[in-house]
Amino acid sequence: MKVGIIGSGGREHAICDSLNKSDNVNKIYCFPGNAGTSQIAENIDINLDNFEEIKNFILEKKIDLVIVGPEKPLVDGLVDFLQKFEIKVFGPNKTASQLEGSKIFTKKICQKFNIPTAQFGIFNKKDDAFKFLKKSKFPIVVKADNLASGKGVYICVNKKEADIAVEEIFNGKFGKAEQILIEEFLEGEEMSFFTIHDGKIFKNFGTAQDHKRVSEGDKGKNTGGMGAYSPSRLINNDLEKKIINKIIKPTIKGLSEIGSEFRGFLYTGLMIVKNEPYLIEYNVRMGDPECQTIIPKLKTDLSKIFMSCCNGNLNEINIEWSNKKSLCIVVCSKGYPEEFKKNVEIQNINNLETDDGEFCFHAGTLKRNETIYAVGGRVLNFVSLSEDFSEARKNVINKINILNWKEGFYRKDIGYKVIK
Ligand code: AMP
Ligand code: GLY
Repeated sequence: MKVGIIGSGGREHAICDSLNKSDNVNKIYCFPGNAGTSQIAENIDINLDNFEEIKNFILEKKIDLVIVGPEKPLVDGLVDFLQKFEIKVFGPNKTASQLEGSKIFTKKICQKFNIPTAQFGIFNKKDDAFKFLKKSKFPIVVKADNLASGKGVYICVNKKEADIAVEEIFNGKFGKAEQILIEEFLEGEEMSFFTIHDGKIFKNFGTAQDHKRVSEGDKGKNTGGMGAYSPSRLINNDLEKKIINKIIKPTIKGLSEIGSEFRGFLYTGLMIVKNEPYLIEYNVRMGDPECQTIIPKLKTDLSKIFMSCCNGNLNEINIEWSNKKSLCIVVCSKGYPEEFKKNVEIQNINNLETDDGEFCFHAGTLKRNETIYAVGGRVLNFVSLSEDFSEARKNVINKINILNWKEGFYRKDIGYKVIK
C-alpha cells in the first residue's frame, strides 16, 4: 500500500523508517519530510496549512493511509477535513485534539471526572490574575491556553515573575489570549506515558523520560527535547493501573460525553509524586524525541497497527516489544534554542554507518544535490537499543563522535538518573 506521513521531524523519520520495513508498504510520501526521509521515501514540498492541496495530492496518488505526526495540523482539523473525502487517516479529530490545543479544555475534563492534576484557576482578566497571585504560594505555574510549542509555560518563583508571565501572555506573546491558567507547582518526577487508540479501545505504546532543558543537569532554557530514554525508570504495574484508571479512561469518557472519540497516539505527560500520577498535560501525538526512542523497540508491523486503528479493530492486534533499553540523544545546531545558523553542511553524514540496533533519525535537515545541510535547531537523533542504558549511551556517544560535526552540540548526560 501507499502511505503518506505529515511532518518533517525526527518523529516522522522514525515512523517512516518503521513503515519502510513493512512488507505491506511499497511507497511512502513525506509532507514535507527531511533529508533522512528522502533516502527511503518521496518528499513532497507542500504547505501544511493548505489542506486542499494536501487532499488533492493524496487523492491523485491514491494514498491508502495518512499519518499525521505534529500537533498543529491535528488541532487545526486536518483529520476531519481529509475524512470528508474518505481518506484513511491516523490521528485524532479536531475536537479530541483540544486535549493538547487547549489546556483549559483538559482542565475542565479533569475537574468533571476527578482526574488528579495540579489545582488551578482560570482567569479572563489580568487584574483578577494579579489579585489571585497576591495571595498565592510560590513557586507557581502560569500557562497560556493555546498551542505554544512548549513555550507558553512559566514556572514562577515569586510574584514579580508571575506578574510578568500574566502580562506577556495577555499581551499576545503566544497568540490571542482570552484566558490564562494559573496552577499549583507539583514537586515530583516527570514521566511520559503513551497509548494508541482506535476510537473504541486503546493499548499501551511505551513509556519514556525526556530531557527538555538545553544544558546538562537539566538546566537552562526549555527546548523541544534534547534526548530521552525508554522505558521510564518510574513505571511499575501499580502505577500503570492508576494512570489508566484515574486518568486515561475518564478522559476518553469525557470526550465521548461531548460526542467525540480518540483515534491516534495519546501522550500523557505526568508528574509522579510518591507513586501517584498527576496529569500535567496531554499531547495528541507521539513525543519528539520519545517517538524516536520508542519506535525502534517495536516488533509488530507498524502499518498493521495504524490500519487497525483506522478500521476500529485494534483489539485484533498484538503489539510486541523488544525488552531492550533504548536511549536517544539529539544533536542540535550551536545556539539552539536561541539563534542558530541555517544551511550548514553536515560533512560526514553520508559516510555514517549504523549497526543493528542503532539508528540515526534526521530532524532539521535538507538534502541539496548530494549534500546534507542542517536547517533546524534539532538536527539529528542518535538512538541505540542495548541490554542496559549505560551501554546504549556509550554507543550513541561513540556514533556522534564518529560524525564529528563541528557546528553541533549535544547533552552527554541523557539518562543520568538511570545511569550510575
Ligand atoms: P507543559 O507544556 O504543560 O508540559 O509544561 C512544560 C513543563 O513545565 C512540564 O514538562 C513540566 O516540567 C513543567 N510544568 C508544567 N506544569 C507544572 C506543574 N503544575 N508543576 C510543576 N511543573 C510543571
Ligand atoms: N518531547 C516533548 C514533546 O514532544 O512534546
